[in-house]
Amino acid sequence: MPPDKSISHRAAMFAAISNEKSIIDNYSAAADPQSTLSCLRQLGVSVSQENDRVEIEGVGRDGLQKPDQPLDCGNSGTTMRLLSGIVSAAGIECEMTGDESLSARTMKRIIEPLRQMGCVIEGRDQEFAPLKISWNNGIKPMRYTLPIASAQLKSCVLLAGLYGNQPTEVVETVQSRDHTERLLDLKSEAYGTGKIIQSSREDVLPAQSYAVPGDFSAAAFWLVAGSINPKSDLNLKHVGMNPSRTGAFHILEEMGAEFTVSNSTFEGKEPVADIRVKSANLKPINLDPKLIPNCIDELPVLMVAMCFADGKSEISGAEELRHKETDRLSAMADILTAAGAEIELKSDGMVIFGDPGFIPHPARFKSHHDHRMAMAAAVLSTRSAGNSEIVDAECTAISYPDFWTHLHQLTQS
Ligand code: S3P
Repeated sequence: MPPDKSISHRAAMFAAISNEKSIIDNYSAAADPQSTLSCLRQLGVSVSQENDRVEIEGVGRDGLQKPDQPLDCGNSGTTMRLLSGIVSAAGIECEMTGDESLSARTMKRIIEPLRQMGCVIEGRDQEFAPLKISWNNGIKPMRYTLPIASAQLKSCVLLAGLYGNQPTEVVETVQSRDHTERLLDLKSEAYGTGKIIQSSREDVLPAQSYAVPGDFSAAAFWLVAGSINPKSDLNLKHVGMNPSRTGAFHILEEMGAEFTVSNSTFEGKEPVADIRVKSANLKPINLDPKLIPNCIDELPVLMVAMCFADGKSEISGAEELRHKETDRLSAMADILTAAGAEIELKSDGMVIFGDPGFIPHPARFKSHHDHRMAMAAAVLSTRSAGNSEIVDAECTAISYPDFWTHLHQLTQS
């Protein structure tokens, strides 16, 4: 599996602001985590990369330098939303830009809490990149209840909190991925049905020397491809199994998928394991909206799985999908409809009338330059009787540069 994208971003950013040297192995070669590295270099951090090993000389949280050029986050929401928490709290005068897709995604969700904390940050139309950041007068303590279950927002506020003399407290009622809290060893405690997480200048930032686990979100494409294709037997090695990420694993198991987990161990603070996947007869499912943040990036390929389940499946509470690299609810509705699947698009989800005998029509699928749309359409096409075309298929390089090679190998064997 390709190295985990979310962990790669964090490993590099957290290494940069620690006071130690970090050696990160299995760092992702995908475009998004590489955007993070180039932004860190622009901020004066020494980053060297040889194959998949990245060495970062931490400059400490106050050692970042003003960049000469705007920080280009490319297509990467995680780079922009997490790094803006660091640079705006550190008071680094800079501009953050992104590609067309990133410039159309709302940044209001981070601008508002950062301003409440005392950061000086402005967006185009108060909402979008480019973001303009300048010096501030100090970070004020804040208790912030997350209005949406977003790990990017949670991380942004906690990272800014690292610059406050008094603790910043983030209240999380619905769990989203917890890599930031784990990798930075942040204090947290139970709070009502959720938890409260704290960060402050007192937190000592640890070196980030470990190997990045395989990306569960990439593995999810094979969990589905292996399940829906007859006579499949795949072994996915060293996959990240952080419980805040593996919703799709459990959802597919509940649908009847045949998975066997072995070699469970840890890479640094993160659990990893091997997963064996065999073909299965899938049952339909009604997804509990509370599970959505736990499988947000896997929902597109779960929709593909649902097309082959024996009956009606339903997804609700997934409005956030409309705010990803593209509007993933609409894009998936178009892809599934073009393939002849029976679906109903809702404002916050989808109803899918599955059929184990479904044979997708060959079609020309639009990826909208969104890596997960391209890969979901490819998995769907593995069950098609003819050749399909996926437009702008090279966008898989955003998270999974070897995807087409792996798919080719699997379909030839
Ligand atoms: C990510 C969090 C998720 C996810 C994205 C990566 C992260 O976004 O969709 O691909 O690394 O924190 P949200 O937290 O905004 O839901």
